[in-house]
Amino acid sequence: MSHSKYEAVYRRSLEDAEGFWGEAAQDLHWTRKWTRVLDDSRKPLYRWFVGGELNTCYNAVDRHVDEGRGDQVAVIYDSPVTDTVQKLTYREFRDLVARFAGALVKQGVRKGDRVIIYMPMVPEALVAMLGCARIGAIHSVVFGGFAPKELATRINDAKPKLIVSASCGIEVKRVIPYKPLLDEAINMAASKPEKCIILQRPQVEAPLTPGRDLTWHEALETATPADCVPLAATDPLYILYTSGTTGIPKGVVRDHGGHAVAMKWTMKNIYNVQAGDVYWAASDIGWVVGHSYIVYAPLLAGCTTIVFEGKPVGTPDAGAFWRVISQHGVKVLFTAPTAFRAIKREDPEGAFIKKYDLGGFKALFLAGERCDPDTLVWAQQRLGVPVIDHWWQTETAWGIAANCLGIEHLPVKPGSPTKASPGYDVRILDEAGDEVPPGKTGNICVKLPLPPGCLPTLWNNDEGYIESYLSRYPGYYLTGDAGYQDEDGYLYIMSRIDDIINVAGHRLSTGGMEEVLAAHPAVAECSVIGVADELKGEVPVGLIVLKAGVTKPEAEIVKEVVQMVRDKIGAVASFKQAVVVKRLPKTRSGKILRGTMKRIADGSEYKVPATIDDPAILGEIGEALNRIGYARSR
Ligand code: COA
Ligand code: AMP
Repeated sequence: MSHSKYEAVYRRSLEDAEGFWGEAAQDLHWTRKWTRVLDDSRKPLYRWFVGGELNTCYNAVDRHVDEGRGDQVAVIYDSPVTDTVQKLTYREFRDLVARFAGALVKQGVRKGDRVIIYMPMVPEALVAMLGCARIGAIHSVVFGGFAPKELATRINDAKPKLIVSASCGIEVKRVIPYKPLLDEAINMAASKPEKCIILQRPQVEAPLTPGRDLTWHEALETATPADCVPLAATDPLYILYTSGTTGIPKGVVRDHGGHAVAMKWTMKNIYNVQAGDVYWAASDIGWVVGHSYIVYAPLLAGCTTIVFEGKPVGTPDAGAFWRVISQHGVKVLFTAPTAFRAIKREDPEGAFIKKYDLGGFKALFLAGERCDPDTLVWAQQRLGVPVIDHWWQTETAWGIAANCLGIEHLPVKPGSPTKASPGYDVRILDEAGDEVPPGKTGNICVKLPLPPGCLPTLWNNDEGYIESYLSRYPGYYLTGDAGYQDEDGYLYIMSRIDDIINVAGHRLSTGGMEEVLAAHPAVAECSVIGVADELKGEVPVGLIVLKAGVTKPEAEIVKEVVQMVRDKIGAVASFKQAVVVKRLPKTRSGKILRGTMKRIADGSEYKVPATIDDPAILGEIGEALNRIGYARSR
């Protein structure tokens, strides 16, 4: 029996959850103390820190100025695509956030109103998020790579009073005007925002709609700074939409109290950083990693955070990450394994690493997808620092499993994100709901309650939350991931149990893509599967069955469906390939055998399912996939 420090902390977090998180909460500034750490009176819905009041923006920004960190840099904007490095101290950042919060108030935004933020990686995006938090408005950031229809779906669900956007984003050398996308989304949506605040960037001037749109500059110029308002710990801080199993995304809700407590706790205990350290999450504010580790956690901890508008390769080269680390004294970097695969592909020997002084760099954390052992070992050998894979999801906001460097650096096992993080009672269950023995794969679940920071519910949809996550195994949260635990308690996250795929660390629904393909007039039936890809981990591939009598050339139809996914979901889906097949393999009850097709595409061994309607179809599928470069034995 191990008596490691991690084990002791982990055990206490489960046996005395209220004591554990109650202590962690003392690290924050509360305007009113909670009456109960954990309210379990509405099981299976739980709430943390009920009765407590605080303001997340105060804790993340103003507090540091009040406590003497006003001159420390809060945000470094490093943008190789515009050749800019800009630094904002906590004092400067507070003044901007307060003024922007005032601008929101002036435009009629009140506590509880929703504000959608559709912006590239610029510091104004953080100002907008914290400006909302300051006055109790609920922000919902939408990733810039999503198409107007996806944005419209989110507008319809969140019903924002105001939208904050920018004139353009920059993808390496390509300038992408955002305003036409925003206007199209608003036109499509049934719910209309009253106002839009648009940041005009020098690369593109956005046309404004009179009466509705004003520029960022105008909005700030005419505003008076607004103060932080006290908010209930259980008030929503933000909604972040994430892919579910259909084209309708799920609105994950984050509260103020539990979230702030968890975020701050993780900085010290998982990442081992303190106030004053420079912490960099190379992600995008549109994803949960960006929310948690570009914005909230590093600022709550009084760190310096980096807003990087660039890519791991191509801006200008595969040395970009090392340049940023050495130039700004980064202590911890957090990114997705795909970024490392991109760097490794261009610079296999790590020649660029040697050009920079990485003396202050202490650890690399990876998440978003399983880190393949090759990439992990490559990074370990080239960087000479701990490389930590940790596992989490939009729903949880922080690692469900991690190697908690601030508690105890456990031995790393490549392929595993280590053990359950404190607060998460992870269990692996079989179909009947019984725990499986070590080494055996099952559905990975978390025994309720989830720790602070995890979603309390879905936006306006308690029932949907219970149905999607809590009903499969009563008393447990269903992560949607399958995997196993070894004899030492290390977790291995192997696959999703639904049709979600992970493309370059981005979570996408193949069901959503199928809905787009099915709308093509020539398509009778279709399926989208995620196939293995060396760079992006997985990429989606479509299989389409044409309606009888269609005479249009197949190549043309494929081109059209590829364009449709780009237009309807966005470039980020990386949907570039589809193939026409005569029929799709199904079970006798009519269920499409996606898993079997994926194995065929990947060139893995597969069993012919006993329930298959006609096994000959599998050969046809193999031939079709082979024509586009898949289904080759490895
Ligand atoms: N706005 C508009 N378009 C965007 C976009 C944005 N914010 N982000 C991505 N896109 C576009 C890209 O330009 C690309 O378009 P293309 O098909 O015309 O080339 C497409 O969406 C796919 O993007 P991506 O998957 O990022 O591929 P890439 O080839 O541009 O880059 C990587 C590949 C690996 C370098 C990149 O995905 C990466 O840096 N990932 C790691 C970091 C990360 O973002 N992690 C997220 C979770 S931690
Ligand atoms: P997202 O909500 O976009 O963060 O995606 C969450 C999903 O990504 C998880 O449910 C997993 O399927 C996958 N994922 C994230 N991190 C890891 C990891 N470290 N190892 C394996 N899978 C991961």
